[in-house]
Amino acid sequence: MAGGERPLVRVRGLRKSFGGNVVLDGVDLDVREGEVTVLLGPSGSGKSTLLRCVNHLETPDAGFVEIGGDIVGYHQNGARLHALRSRAVTRQRAQVGMVFQQFNLFPHMTLLENITEAPVAVRRLPRKQAAARARELLERVGLGSREDSYPRQLSGGQQQRVAIARALAMEPRLLLFDEPTSALDPELVGEVLAVIQDLALGGMTMIVVTHEIGFARKVADTVVFLDGGRIIESGPPADVLTDPRHERARSFLAAVL
Ligand SMILES: Nc1ncnc2c1ncn2[C@@H]1O[C@H](COP(=O)(O)OP(=O)(O)O)[C@@H](O)[C@H]1O
Ligand SMILES: [Mg+2]
Repeated sequence: MAGGERPLVRVRGLRKSFGGNVVLDGVDLDVREGEVTVLLGPSGSGKSTLLRCVNHLETPDAGFVEIGGDIVGYHQNGARLHALRSRAVTRQRAQVGMVFQQFNLFPHMTLLENITEAPVAVRRLPRKQAAARARELLERVGLGSREDSYPRQLSGGQQQRVAIARALAMEPRLLLFDEPTSALDPELVGEVLAVIQDLALGGMTMIVVTHEIGFARKVADTVVFLDGGRIIESGPPADVLTDPRHERARSFLAAVL
């Protein structure tokens, strides 16, 4: 994109219902290259569904998500949109890394195998090259000596750091985190947040769903409050986290702090 003016991610008029349940009720969101957006909101407010629409794990009922100028899930031909075939969806999804609450590592694979699987299968990287890159990434998340271990031999915090390394191995343009520390014992939360903060300093573009307000204050460029499938408040953490205007945002903050 010329000039870097256009945000990397543009969400416009996004709507999604399940049965009669309206989960996303017209969401507009911009995320600029290199910026960290923290998504806050009560359980059921639509946070995971929003991330899943960005990664095309859900198809919106209306509106769209655009990443790097391309509409997720569609090919634009003049004014017409055509749904992408599954291989094109896979290619598009490879630009977006996702880290879940439950680390979702492959239990029967070593850490090295977990990290090299997708680059070899999807990006057709030569295995040797993928392994060299995986070792660098394990080093980067502080697990340089553990490549032959299996996930069950690791703590939850370590497993989540491997899941982050696995996402990075695809060289995504954008990383999504869905409550990455919610399943962890409290003493393991810090090591995972430190890795995410390090990525932020390195300029990775990220959308992070978390209830860790201290982390949001330090790392977020923008904090967004979702409530009932709508963005009720959005802005720099110094404003939104200190003095939210909306009553629902105030009460949510009071509850999690
Ligand atoms: N695949 C699905 N089928 C039916 N309902 C769903 C599905 N995914 C999410 N929901 C519903 O959508 C609402 C919002 O869910 P979610 O996006 O997971 O919220 P949050 O992540 O903010 O807790 C919830 O009421 C949830 O039960
Ligand atoms: Mg959720």
